Amino acid sequence: MSVQWAVVTGASGGIGLECARVLAQRGYNLVLVARSASNLESAQKALATPNLKIVTIRLNLASPEAPAKLVEQTDALGIIPDVLVNNAGVGCHGKFFDTPLPEQITMLRLNTEALIALSHLYGKKMRERKHGYILQVASTAAFQPIPYMGLYAATKSLVVSFSRSLNFEYQAQGVTSTVLCPGPTATKFFDEAKFTPGKEFSQLMMTADVVARKGIDAMFARRDIYVAGTFNKIVTFFPRFVPVKFIMNSMEKVMK
Ligand SMILES: NC(=O)c1ccc[n+]([C@@H]2O[C@H](COP(=O)([O-])OP(=O)(O)OC[C@H]3O[C@@H](n4cnc5c(N)ncnc54)[C@H](OP(=O)(O)O)[C@@H]3O)[C@@H](O)[C@H]2O)c1
Repeated sequence: MSVQWAVVTGASGGIGLECARVLAQRGYNLVLVARSASNLESAQKALATPNLKIVTIRLNLASPEAPAKLVEQTDALGIIPDVLVNNAGVGCHGKFFDTPLPEQITMLRLNTEALIALSHLYGKKMRERKHGYILQVASTAAFQPIPYMGLYAATKSLVVSFSRSLNFEYQAQGVTSTVLCPGPTATKFFDEAKFTPGKEFSQLMMTADVVARKGIDAMFARRDIYVAGTFNKIVTFFPRFVPVKFIMNSMEKVMK
């Protein structure tokens, strides 16, 4: 059997590192992508086993040219991934006018443009081989507007909508796109987003390893969408039947 590779973005910590761990256990060689060289090195050490090949690539995926650079580097190594995990993403907490625009644009580029570009660049290679799995990491934030994290929620709505149509278009040709929607998960995400979760959030936190395992299972089962956790499944179903104003009033209490 030929050597199988997985590219995981945001693989230096949190959900991405756990996705990489699950893929390594399933025998995939890994390309780990993130910005911090030292965190990538720690991830590589943590995942290393005798037969596993691990390549680390340091890139800021929020820069417009980064996705093409990543593909150039994997091409140069002769790597065509069977799996792409588009996980790298950040949040940005605060009222819109009071949050610096560059931070918001960086989030928008990372959470959407980079994910779209990598889906296009690697997805076409997968289609040529009639085989490939893409896991897009969105969020339960995708299912309703979220005051004080409005643009973040909007980026994740885009990911859900985009992934589902991508999956529909190419599943018959052997390439699937599964969108994973985690709810609150214990990672550095909230620190990076400058948001201190209250008691309500903390009680609902899942661990990154459980979220990753469920997400990777859903991807290999070629599921269209997977919401992690029973409570989160209920929370994402509910907004269809409730006025948006009511949802936003309730959200404000936990997000402010
Ligand atoms: N934690 C939650 O509650 C939660 C809930 C729903 C969805 N999610 C989603 O899950 C995904 C992973 O988040 P997480 O919770 O695991 O957060 P995390 O622990 O902060 O991990 C984020 C990862 O992305 C990398 N990253 C950040 N900015 C990057 C950039 N510009 N270019 C390349 N890599 C970058 C980070 O490494 P470097 O800093 O070294 O670049 C790190 O490896 C995100 O898409 C997030 O929106 C998280």
